[in-house]
Amino acid sequence: MSEIEEAKIQSVREDFPILSRKIYGKPLVYFDNAATTQKPLAVINAISNYYLNDNANVHRGVHYLSQQATGAFEDVRKKVATFINAGSPSEIVFTRGATEAINLVAWSYCESFLSAGDEIIVSVLEHHSNIVPWQVACERKGAFLKVIPATSDGELDMPVFEQLLNEHTKMVAVSHISNTLGTINPIGEIVNLAHSKNVPVFVDGAQGLSHGPVDVQKLGCDFYAFSAHKMYGPMGIGGLYGKTAWLEKMQPYQMGGEMIEKVTFEKTTYNEIPYKFEAGTPNVADVMGLNAAIDYLIGLGWDFITTQENDLLNYATSQLLEVEGIRIIGTAANKAAIISFLIDGIHFFDAGTILDHLGIAVRTGSHCTQPLMDSLGINGTLRASLAFYNTRQEVDKLIEAIQKVKNLFA
Ligand SMILES: Cc1ncc(COP(=O)(O)O)c(C=O)c1O
Repeated sequence: MSEIEEAKIQSVREDFPILSRKIYGKPLVYFDNAATTQKPLAVINAISNYYLNDNANVHRGVHYLSQQATGAFEDVRKKVATFINAGSPSEIVFTRGATEAINLVAWSYCESFLSAGDEIIVSVLEHHSNIVPWQVACERKGAFLKVIPATSDGELDMPVFEQLLNEHTKMVAVSHISNTLGTINPIGEIVNLAHSKNVPVFVDGAQGLSHGPVDVQKLGCDFYAFSAHKMYGPMGIGGLYGKTAWLEKMQPYQMGGEMIEKVTFEKTTYNEIPYKFEAGTPNVADVMGLNAAIDYLIGLGWDFITTQENDLLNYATSQLLEVEGIRIIGTAANKAAIISFLIDGIHFFDAGTILDHLGIAVRTGSHCTQPLMDSLGINGTLRASLAFYNTRQEVDKLIEAIQKVKNLFA
């Protein structure tokens, strides 16, 4: 890393006030970015500015503030559409996050298009949020859940996927990036195979949008879900991209508020997309935070983000592998900066607790991927998930701290 890049990372870190916190008197090393990323001041200010100066309900008022809020809210929809290259802003539905976006499609799509005997394909790498909604839809409709297994490196077993696809398949739902192993899945290839059998593809992009640019039209997927809090934005807001042709045909998911066109006691007709899927008062303030997060990422640039994260991934991987007794779980060729690992003879929970007392925040456990853990024959891992604001020096601190953990258990 050149001095200029080092200086840039230091200045980027200053955008995130929490990174200068101390934990148990030690400088915080925040390696839990897959759970949630930290927020730059620009995001925090955008939210407080909304409540300080601009607060009004959207879509309902003739008064100035309401119209201003509505305009700003709809501008963010346009910005999200451009950010992920959706065909139109009306293909962006605001949700509480990725989980709600998955539930929306699992309910609305399956209500119309899933019947007894049909099949939905997920993968063994999925977060519970991209398993359970499909599983429940299958139970409701008498359909079957099929699972793409992974290779020993943590890559999807594509030949098995091809065999699973058949005339009963009604949806393929896979993650863009595995939150546990860091595997970047070959979405383009999955889409080509599925579409050759006229099967739509749902992508859980909860980990996708923070690590690199996403172009939903290039990926070719039918749906893409994301959470703002995993891309440096606020919690409680996220979205769903859905192709117009699907969104038009799907049932509304929740009822009331802006999703109606005309209500009588006899019958209700529904609003056009995307409003048909946005019942109730939306989370406008956090949409403003999402707006600031997107601006922040655009300002940094994907080149900087991907270069820095790849450097950290390679450095952390090589340093971890130098430590005797460390096993990295998930060694896919195409990986994001998420590293699951185990320390020989030391329970991940004990190790994580000691690391915490040394100021290092890593995640321990199953990472909401219990079926993946079962398939690997383990109960959990330690997970260091890195972001562009992390540094090689922080990786060195992790390695030193792991040595301390090992010494305590020696
Ligand atoms: C791959 C993946 N999918 C879905 C989710 C759920 O995201 P949220 O809790 O923001 O809805 C997560 C969160 O960790 C995730 O990593």
